[in-house]
Amino acid sequence: MLFSTLVASALALASTAAAAPSPQGYGKSDSLYKAMRSRGRSFIGTALTIRDNEPAEPKIIKQDFNSITPENAQKWESTEPSRGNFTLADSDRYVQYAKNNGLQIHCHNLVWHSQLPAWVTDGKFDNRTLIQVMEEHIKVLAGRYRGQCTRWDVVNEALNEDGTYRESVWYNTIGEAYLPIAFRLAAKYDKHAELFYNDYNLEYNNAKTEGAKRIVKLIKSYGVKINGVGYQAHLASEATPTAPGAAPDQKTLEAALRATADLGVDVVYTEIDLRMNTPATPEKLAVQAAAYERVAKSCLAVKRCIGMTVWGISDKYSWIPGVFAGEGAALIWDENYNKKPAYKGFLKGIVGR
Ligand SMILES: *[C@@H]1O[C@H](CO)[C@@H](O)[C@H](O)[C@H]1NC(C)=O
Ligand SMILES: *[C@@H]1O[C@H](CO)[C@@H](O)[C@H](O)[C@H]1NC(C)=O
Repeated sequence: MLFSTLVASALALASTAAAAPSPQGYGKSDSLYKAMRSRGRSFIGTALTIRDNEPAEPKIIKQDFNSITPENAQKWESTEPSRGNFTLADSDRYVQYAKNNGLQIHCHNLVWHSQLPAWVTDGKFDNRTLIQVMEEHIKVLAGRYRGQCTRWDVVNEALNEDGTYRESVWYNTIGEAYLPIAFRLAAKYDKHAELFYNDYNLEYNNAKTEGAKRIVKLIKSYGVKINGVGYQAHLASEATPTAPGAAPDQKTLEAALRATADLGVDVVYTEIDLRMNTPATPEKLAVQAAAYERVAKSCLAVKRCIGMTVWGISDKYSWIPGVFAGEGAALIWDENYNKKPAYKGFLKGIVGR
């Protein structure tokens, strides 16, 4: 009954009315973001694809989240499918959704090698022209939502696993200067948004984490603003075929966050999901809950960790089974929108006792 104590303190801190815990041990007025705010941090978010057929989702968002990240709507292929042809109706809906519901919005993303249309990838633009293409895109996206995006992922996934630069059209044409150039342009068209570099597998405090440090220093060396680093945290909660090592221990997670935070930027977990080999069993769900707890604890242990976003609400729509065969059940609500033990683990890690 350690947990009922924890919930009670979370509720007290959040100064919401205490409700009797449900039979599964979840209190009706549990709220991830209120617990996070009570710890002096900024947000708990979810990736969002707006669906009209899932009435549970807006209720969960209202109760547990104060930030959203549009899952796909702002990616280049969705927003500029051909040069100068900006298709922003869908993206607009997310910004409006955040506004209507008083939520932060983590806008995602401006410059990435993936979900990038062929007209950019195969356009054979020279350096100057590609920078122009980048500016046209950032001008329209960042400019349109100026003052409305809480944060922007300015550059996404620029690194290889060994910490070297990924050979994308951006890097191959412009060189590493594409990073500071992108950040400079984002700041030019939206002075208000916090500007983030975002990548996966930075959580192991290894060569790739070193690469992220190099990027922060590079951008700063150009005299350009960077506010933070996003650690995606697409991790496995147990050993799986695609991740022989399960999610790092708490010390490693903290050290990884501090690696860039110590350079004077904020850090955020931007896309948390902790997959397992399916089907889920009570044992695996308990292992997963412990992994969620230590991810949350690692954030709370680092002063500059301002928030955390999970990459979706329900396992029903998670991207994991479609990409990692035989793996899934990575989120904190199951396919029927019931809270999993992972919810409790995550909340416990946020509350911190
Ligand atoms: C813009 O892109 C959309 C989506 O691909 C397409 O349907 C439309 O015809 C394009 N418009 C122009 C003017 O190219
Ligand atoms: C491309 O142009 C930018 C801006 O002038 C410059 O910083 C960068 O080094 C150039 N890249 C190459 C490969 O010439």
